[in-house]
Amino acid sequence: MSTTVPFLLLFLGVLACEGANPCCSEPCENRGVCTTVGYDSYECDCTRTGYYGQNCTTPEFFTWIKYSLKPSPNTVHYILTHFRALWNIINNIPFLRDAIMRLVLTSRAHLIDSPPTYNSDYGYKSWEAYSNLSYFTRTLPPVPEDCPTPMGVAGKKELPDVNVMAEKLLLRRTFIPDPQQTSLMFAFFAQHFTHQFFKTDMKKGPAFIRAKNHGVDLSHIYGEELERQHKLRLFKDGKLKHQVLDGEVYPPTVSDAQVDMHYPPHVPESHRFAVGHEAFGLVPGLLMYATLWLREHNRVCDVLKTEHPDWDDERLFQTTRLILIGETIKIVIEDYVQHLSGYHFKLKFDPEILFNQRFQYQNRISSEFNTLYHWHPLMPDGFHIQDEVYNYSQFLFNTTLLTDYGISNLVESFTNQIAGRVAGGRNVGRAVLMVAVKSIENSRLMRFQSLNAYRKRFNMKPYVSFEDLTGEKEMAAELEEMYGHVDAVELYPGLLVEKPRPNGIFGETMVEMGAPYSLKGLLGNPICSPEYWKPSTFGGAVGFNIVNTASLQKLVCNNVKGPCPVASFHVPKVRDSVLSTINASTAHSSQKEVNPTVLLKDRSSEL
Ligand SMILES: *[C@@H]1O[C@H](CO)[C@@H](O)[C@H](O)[C@H]1NC(C)=O
Ligand SMILES: *[C@@H]1O[C@H](CO)[C@@H](O)[C@H](O)[C@H]1NC(C)=O
Ligand SMILES: *[C@@H]1O[C@H](CO)[C@@H](O)[C@H](O)[C@H]1NC(C)=O
Ligand SMILES: *[C@@H]1O[C@H](CO)[C@@H](O)[C@H](O)[C@H]1NC(C)=O
Ligand SMILES: *[C@@H]1O[C@H](CO)[C@@H](O)[C@H](O)[C@H]1NC(C)=O
Repeated sequence: MSTTVPFLLLFLGVLACEGANPCCSEPCENRGVCTTVGYDSYECDCTRTGYYGQNCTTPEFFTWIKYSLKPSPNTVHYILTHFRALWNIINNIPFLRDAIMRLVLTSRAHLIDSPPTYNSDYGYKSWEAYSNLSYFTRTLPPVPEDCPTPMGVAGKKELPDVNVMAEKLLLRRTFIPDPQQTSLMFAFFAQHFTHQFFKTDMKKGPAFIRAKNHGVDLSHIYGEELERQHKLRLFKDGKLKHQVLDGEVYPPTVSDAQVDMHYPPHVPESHRFAVGHEAFGLVPGLLMYATLWLREHNRVCDVLKTEHPDWDDERLFQTTRLILIGETIKIVIEDYVQHLSGYHFKLKFDPEILFNQRFQYQNRISSEFNTLYHWHPLMPDGFHIQDEVYNYSQFLFNTTLLTDYGISNLVESFTNQIAGRVAGGRNVGRAVLMVAVKSIENSRLMRFQSLNAYRKRFNMKPYVSFEDLTGEKEMAAELEEMYGHVDAVELYPGLLVEKPRPNGIFGETMVEMGAPYSLKGLLGNPICSPEYWKPSTFGGAVGFNIVNTASLQKLVCNNVKGPCPVASFHVPKVRDSVLSTINASTAHSSQKEVNPTVLLKDRSSEL
């Protein structure tokens, strides 16, 4: 059967609607590539898709077998999040755990094109799109310019007004806590971790990125440029500059380090902390993590110095940076992704699992990943620290809060406060609503394809109706009025109104799209490649062991004085008091919270 494929590949498409670009209707299924032929016909390139025919719709025999046996993403998710007793057994059988982890990694990461393909200005393969690292890459090419509707052929001639849509479908009415009990400790980790690579270059536009390495390089700790890194370094024993306040180590001041940081005028000189990322003064949660990693860096330097008294400052610094990259990836997979997934299967960070697989050790940050990661519904209405509640204007840029409470107390408070649920609609706080608005506007500028187009790209069935998407009637009706057809629903609003999985923080699309980007980015790091992944890279067995035993809890315990607070990405036990404070903060939130919006305006697209 498959011998006929080469002939059918070249089968030409017929007339589409006259005038319009025939690729607007996305006629090529199963990841076939659409190319126009003349002005009114098209051709689908089905090479290696496992399908053939005019629109790549006829499965080859083995494709048919594979897909007949393959369970749906929701089925796999169900299995992984149920049957705890069974998973407890599997988790303790190393070869089974490795085999399943390999399956998780390969099935996800293989959905990401590597080397990357398109960008927002190139919807076809080109050397420019491949080589110009100033762009975010694109998983799906932009909707062609000359289409009947903004989303191709589906839906209305005009997209809904962004502000109206945000008010109707995204704005929080009352705080909806995350049923997976995600904590603010998670929310701030997400913000801190992802902003090393989600750095939109606002001067050039939303299609452009300032992050040079497109991955986990810890530039948010060490600075993007070598010059900034040098200004943040002490040039002694590999360490970073710091200051001691009340006997505790904090980042240096801006005047000490002489690096650019974004602070409004009211922040006093003495409390303008200088860290790797220039915008991290915005949120005390970010400065808390910046301080923890700074302390960790200097701690690891001491450990390495004991091991290698002969090493110079440069080597201690460089090796420590690699160790911290390893620790970060370990924590992200085994604490962070583990929490998000809700799996009873115990995820494992072990690059060796991929050594017998075909896998590219490179990564490019895609615009879709950046967009889908706008998880602002996580943000609560107010921040509970010890016995106080801070609103946005009291919290943002309040760097004295960091030193007044100290890292320990902040960790404890953020671990105990529950974050908001991301999917399900109407849970974006007023204070951050304009960030969501901005992501939608930018997606339009970049001509993102529809939610359903992305569902197909990531092996999901497209939603057949608005109710199928939201799982309810009210928002479905609003959406229908706005978009006309479910195939025209945009990616980002779609992700936020999608029905959550049972007791889940996200809907299916967020997970099935987000996980591939995430795992590819983590395992595609050079330290995970065979030549790097060995003790000598990390200064020997001691350094390698720091990487292999890292956890969020250890990061905190190794770097605070006195008793170590519980540090967790989920609220340990949602006590009545927590729930009642949620109610209290909901009650406080008023329509008049405009101050923080003004504060956030400059950096909205960055943070
Ligand atoms: C391929 O798609 C086009 C446009 O959607 C459609 O008109 C045509 O009938 C399809 N061809 C096949 C063989 O299904
Ligand atoms: C990348 O593309 C942008 C936009 O075309 C251009 O301004 C920039 O110079 C390019 N960068 C490089 C390194 O070629
Ligand atoms: C900043 O936080 C401190 C508590 O650490 C508080 O006393 C102060 O009022 C806050 N600043 C502002 C501007 O709200
Ligand atoms: C909030 O308060 C209402 C009424 O006082 C109560 O019915 C509800 O259960 C509370 N919600 C939470 C999350 O505690
Ligand atoms: C935040 O709280 C302070 C002190 O209670 C209050 O003066 C201010 O108006 C509040 N800001 C907002 C935006 O609610």
